[in-house]
Amino acid sequence: MVTKNNYDPIGKKVLEDPIPAYAQLREQCPVHHYEGLENPMYTFSQYEDVQSVLLDQTTWSNRYGPGISYERNVGDLQRYDPPDHQIRRRFLRAEFLPRTVAASEPAIRDLANELIDGFQEDGKVELHDNFALPLPVKAFTELMGINDVDSAEFKKWADELTLGMTYPERAREARKALSSYTRDQVIVRREAVARAGYGPDQDPVGEIVPEGLISHLACRPLQDGTFMPDEEVAGMVGQLLVAGHETTTSLITNTLWRLFLNPTQMELIRKKPDLIPNAIEESLRFDPPVLGLCKTNNTPVTYHNVDIPQDSKVMILYASANRDPNVFDDPDEFRVDRPLIETKRHLSFGWGSHFCLGAHLARQTGRIAVSTFLERFDDLHLVDPTERVSPPFLWGRRELTVTWE
Ligand code: HEM
Repeated sequence: MVTKNNYDPIGKKVLEDPIPAYAQLREQCPVHHYEGLENPMYTFSQYEDVQSVLLDQTTWSNRYGPGISYERNVGDLQRYDPPDHQIRRRFLRAEFLPRTVAASEPAIRDLANELIDGFQEDGKVELHDNFALPLPVKAFTELMGINDVDSAEFKKWADELTLGMTYPERAREARKALSSYTRDQVIVRREAVARAGYGPDQDPVGEIVPEGLISHLACRPLQDGTFMPDEEVAGMVGQLLVAGHETTTSLITNTLWRLFLNPTQMELIRKKPDLIPNAIEESLRFDPPVLGLCKTNNTPVTYHNVDIPQDSKVMILYASANRDPNVFDDPDEFRVDRPLIETKRHLSFGWGSHFCLGAHLARQTGRIAVSTFLERFDDLHLVDPTERVSPPFLWGRRELTVTWE
């Protein structure tokens, strides 16, 4: 029986495999109150409750950030509430539309093939470092329009930033380095526009400065005619790198890992490669790269007869919602041919107004990675054991070694 005293979200057993504990939470303690962290934390585990939070921006705020501690950080889209949230999100949206994202597909596919060329003769590869990590960095730099930057440096910053919870000092240093790089890029672009004598009603993107998100943020005005301050552009780029990097890496390692663990599903996808989009969606449902995030309530609320005081940190567990038998048939079965109409109800990208802006990009990168890797090798074997990534509320394989003949 799970009670408020015996579920430990950062205990060794839960970290290794949280799914059994989530099933118990859903059934026995759908609102859990935990006091073992620096702030008390409530946890919601049923689909209906998690979704209700995501759909109600009046009650549920992002202003203290999605982590377990209370933080404010300018420039991070996920920390804004209405109306500032909509203004900024609308401003960014064009760069994340399927059509814009699709333009980066050939570059990502070329890199996937190049990476495979580099280890094909070895008969063995560790996929996290050598395949799943570099691809999202490429996807990100393409989106930013900074393809001339040293991608090794970007990869390093991205890695250090995601270590935030475990090594805050290293994350701070990486954030500083990335901010200073971004600020320089903003200044260079704004100076070029000023030199060209462009006014606020002329669009310099693609004319004076290269296409891409940094140019957009630096050189296009917000709805009210003002330009985003340098600090905010830098914060936003840092957030995008964190939000999109390790998560997409995990999507790739998780999908391949599950296919190795389920040979019949691997066989099915090899026979029917057009199921790859379904496999990516099923992987997101089954192994969400973000297990859950916190929201904060603007007013006192009551869920399942538990009174939750205003300004509490409430962890909404996407990973648990995705296994709720009230929503998914046989939720603990990994099935790559599950109909998309069912799988896409997963909450792994959130739902509603904060729905992940990078979802198209992540899905595209995941599809390219899995399809290219499986096309290039027939007879793959997983080398045990694998290891999970360390941040407690992220989920992915830190190490995934495979061999072939
Ligand atoms: C498999 C990969 C990814 C997963 C699982 C993921 C997951 C999430 C989740 C759970 C949220 C929060 C939703 C909420 O608060 O309700 C989110 C928000 C966000 N994600 Fe992603 N993400 C992924 C990839 C990306 C990529 C590639 C980018 C961009 C490069 C990105 C950019 C964002 C942004 C900007 C937000 C904030 C949206 C807002 O607050 O309006 N994500 N993502």
